Amino acid sequence: MRKLFSPVQLGLFRLQHRVVHAPTTRLRANADDSPSKLMLEYYRQRASDGGLIITESTHVSYDSRGYLGAPGIYQDSHVPGWRAIADAVHAKGGRIFMQLGHDGRQSHVDLTGGPLPIAPSVVPFDGQSLTADGWVPVSPHRAIDVQEIAVVIGHYRQAAMRAKEAGLDGVELHSANGYLVDTFLQDGTNRRSDAYGGSIQKRARLLLELTKVLVDVWGPGRVGVRLSPSGRWGSISDSDPEATFTYVARQLDSMNLAYLHVIEPRVMGVETLDPHQAPVAAAMLRKVFSGPIIAAGGFTGDSAEVMVGSGDADLVAFGRFFASNPDLPYRLLHDLPLNAYDRDAFWGGNHVGYTDYPRFADTLPQAAAAA
Ligand SMILES: Cc1cc2nc3c(=O)[nH]c(=O)nc-3n(C[C@H](O)[C@H](O)[C@H](O)COP(=O)(O)O)c2cc1C
Repeated sequence: MRKLFSPVQLGLFRLQHRVVHAPTTRLRANADDSPSKLMLEYYRQRASDGGLIITESTHVSYDSRGYLGAPGIYQDSHVPGWRAIADAVHAKGGRIFMQLGHDGRQSHVDLTGGPLPIAPSVVPFDGQSLTADGWVPVSPHRAIDVQEIAVVIGHYRQAAMRAKEAGLDGVELHSANGYLVDTFLQDGTNRRSDAYGGSIQKRARLLLELTKVLVDVWGPGRVGVRLSPSGRWGSISDSDPEATFTYVARQLDSMNLAYLHVIEPRVMGVETLDPHQAPVAAAMLRKVFSGPIIAAGGFTGDSAEVMVGSGDADLVAFGRFFASNPDLPYRLLHDLPLNAYDRDAFWGGNHVGYTDYPRFADTLPQAAAAA
């Protein structure tokens, strides 16, 4: 039997296969940032018996928003929509973790509601934010003071509690791709000299404090952390990624996580740089992290099988191919062809390029004849 389709323990959960839905921001929430009916349909389609879905990045506070149309979990009115999604995934025997995100300096004053977006330090960069006026350059940002960090941590706690109330199975801390937590961790964006900047220990402090808060709220085996050790999305950089990220993974190893989620360097944000580049990030962190590892970034069914076979990762998350293949685990299990994805439909829009991708069974001649 292929290892990709063998059971695995992920924190408290026994999964039946190792093909994970990667967090993918699709910008189709309701105007008040509550999950839309379309999102419910999207997640329902992608749930599988014993499979894990990680949701798109979900905002922990109003001022953490960087893209119009991304969902939130920062007010009570967001809970019922998420509960409907969790119920739909559970009805198909699946599990669902919510990715909790704060977009930090990748934002715009029209989205934060007025205040400048926050960051550990002021390090200008050319990014884009999606506002009611379309894609626009990000606003200048400001460095937050230590008192405000406590407020941000409080927002994560509240968000984690609401996600729990909504009946999800766990939460994932988004510490990848140059958003707030990642900008604290990496020294290209963190120039602070207080308790949250300087040494690796101090730069990692916010990430570790947030993880502890999430584990406090959710208990052991229900919290994951996502890292992108070589990410450049959001103009992020670190002078010694191996030291920084192995330190973090070593600390996380003793925090009763469900998993560590790692993005491989051959993918930068949403673009594949070099499909032939061998994965290295999971292998680097495997040396210091003993729990389950999910690898992501440029995988195919075959390379995912090699990855879990190598032991450097236990599961593999798929972003773009899960977007275009609602039945991706089934297709990979049976070596069936995959639907191509439509990049133009990634961010915002309606059901087109979102919930209208066919399952393999729908493409068979009998299905066409019956329709
Ligand atoms: C449309 C789109 C939206 C994404 N949104 C998120 C997100 O919300 N959070 C996150 O951590 N990564 C996000 N990513 C990155 C994916 O999770 C994944 O790491 C990346 O697509 C590489 O995997 P793939 O080669 O299987 O697509 C996004 C990627 C795409 C294509």
